[in-house]
Amino acid sequence: MKPNVLMCAPEYFGVRYAINPWMEGQIGQVDSAVALRQWTEFYHALRSQAEVHLIDPQPHVPDLVFTANAGLMVDGHFIPSRFKHEERRREEPLFREWFKTRTTRHTGLPKNLFFEGAGDALLQPGRKLLWAGYGFRTDREAHQFLAEQLEMEVVSLKLIHPSFYHLDTCFCPLLEDQVMYFPAAFDAESLKTIQAHVRPENRIIVTEEDAVHFACNAVLVDRVLFLNHAGPELIQLLEQKGYTPVIQPVSEFLKAGGANKCLTLSL
Ligand code: ARG
Repeated sequence: MKPNVLMCAPEYFGVRYAINPWMEGQIGQVDSAVALRQWTEFYHALRSQAEVHLIDPQPHVPDLVFTANAGLMVDGHFIPSRFKHEERRREEPLFREWFKTRTTRHTGLPKNLFFEGAGDALLQPGRKLLWAGYGFRTDREAHQFLAEQLEMEVVSLKLIHPSFYHLDTCFCPLLEDQVMYFPAAFDAESLKTIQAHVRPENRIIVTEEDAVHFACNAVLVDRVLFLNHAGPELIQLLEQKGYTPVIQPVSEFLKAGGANKCLTLSL
């Protein structure tokens, strides 16, 4: 069975406010035609591997395309996001509406906690383990709530680099206990935490050059890895580990601080 993924067409996508460093200086700079072409090509490539569902775009929410931030879906249990920034809080009712008829379980967050969904919460395939980021958007206290609700181990990682403000911008769990990540995005303690959970041969270290082109923001389906960019060494490393990297450029979306993974939500 193909995995299910949620996406949102970029009809109204653009940079209209700045809530992360990538957006600064980019207001009004998105080329809508290029964005639509890049998104459509990615959508078709993904559709060959996954069942892609769509939520209707709306004019007042330009970041709705980043469906990774809708919430977190684990085995039919949906935990909706509460966005840190008011600009994105307008997306909450739209996602709530979409999920209302599509989930068997829906658990709201406790009051006053921020959580930005699968942008800050990544499952390790084949294990009952959730990696969760905090520091910029999601509150660390929300991790505890996720652990209780999902009944799984949640490993908290502190993000310290403003350009890598969501966990999925700098960390990507892969198969067979492997992970790929950009170390400079994490504090020293979190790096030790990663090392304690993942054996050296299973750690793929991403260079700054690849990281700033969102190489960690990859979508894994089967052994196919869709990413905006990966240099020759990273490509070779991934291939050696048995993956098929597919470069699917989404440069217009980088202007808003997101790439391939942010444009999808695993259902
Ligand atoms: N402009 C959006 C924001 O700052 C980008 C979200 C990227 N999403 C992600 N999962 N990293 O919230």
